[in-house]
Amino acid sequence: MAEIGQDISQAKRVLDAAKLVSIPTETVYGLAGNALNPVAVASIFETKNRPSFDPLIIHVPSLKEAVNYVTDIPSPLRKLAGQFWPGPLTLLLPRKETIPDIVTSGLDRVAVRVPDHPLTLELLSKIDYPLAAPSANPFGYISPTSPKHVDAQLGDKISYILDGGKCLVGLESTIVGMEGDEIVVYRLGGLDISDIEALVGKVKVKSHSSSNPQAPGLLESHYAPTKPFLIGDLATLLLDHKKKGIDFAVLSLDKKFDSIPSGYQIALSPGSDLKEAATNLFAAMRTLDESNVQVILAEMMPEEGLGKAINDRLKRAATKG
Ligand code: TXA
Ligand code: MG
Repeated sequence: MAEIGQDISQAKRVLDAAKLVSIPTETVYGLAGNALNPVAVASIFETKNRPSFDPLIIHVPSLKEAVNYVTDIPSPLRKLAGQFWPGPLTLLLPRKETIPDIVTSGLDRVAVRVPDHPLTLELLSKIDYPLAAPSANPFGYISPTSPKHVDAQLGDKISYILDGGKCLVGLESTIVGMEGDEIVVYRLGGLDISDIEALVGKVKVKSHSSSNPQAPGLLESHYAPTKPFLIGDLATLLLDHKKKGIDFAVLSLDKKFDSIPSGYQIALSPGSDLKEAATNLFAAMRTLDESNVQVILAEMMPEEGLGKAINDRLKRAATKG
């Protein structure tokens, strides 16, 4: 098991030695290493069991620092950074050569963000390199939103987890870049599209393509529990599984079923608040995945606000075929 604590100097020592630390962010916990050191970055891929064609996000303490690693920030993206950093926004920007190929999987753009968490911002201000950090979960599994989640899956592979408590946003960052004059969203996430459009106008959402070489991490099957995970109309799914005598657990936005024991149902937000639902989503998926049922049944959220990003994760988690 890894040590879990709030000692920033210790985290820095581990990182300075080209080893990995799990860091808290407002979105999900990251598995961080020195982005300028290809050996440290290689061990991120190895620890996560992540294919090397899937590039990493670099984390910096400010927009001012970001400028050291990119050749240009197109003005709409600069505007977004000015408004939403620190926050759940990742920008794809033309990289400088100081960023090793292994970080971007050889792509010309590097993904950059300023995470909104006081501990990690302090850590970033004390080191003189950016942190490459994917979500701290084995490749393809549900992202961690608490130190315990990280410890359960990667605790035997890393020595330190910086404890920043529970992640307040709970969904990964929204990834944005430009293609010509067009602003493109490559991954729906914790920053709502409507907040982006209010600032820079209409954007194109490309995040549903399952084989998009620009963001290989957007593989269709991702964020997935180990148990079968079925999405659809809950009433129908429930009836169907009851009839077949299959043990199930239920994930909903706001419902309470009198016929189902309380340990086998989770309402993400009893008050139907999508922000609260986003915060609770991954922890709820883990809890149900660990319960002694055969299958998890889930409903989709309304397609508005963060509901779109939650639905994106639910669809990727869903069992195919
Ligand atoms: O909220 C987040 O973004 C979290 C926290 C830890 O910052 N990080 C995260 O990283 O979700 P990861 O590695 O799990 O997801 C990063 C996504 C992947 O889908 C990857 O393919 C895409 O970003 N990506 C990274 N660099 C890219 C690049 N240069 N071009 C296109 N896509 C890129
Ligand atoms: Mg991930």
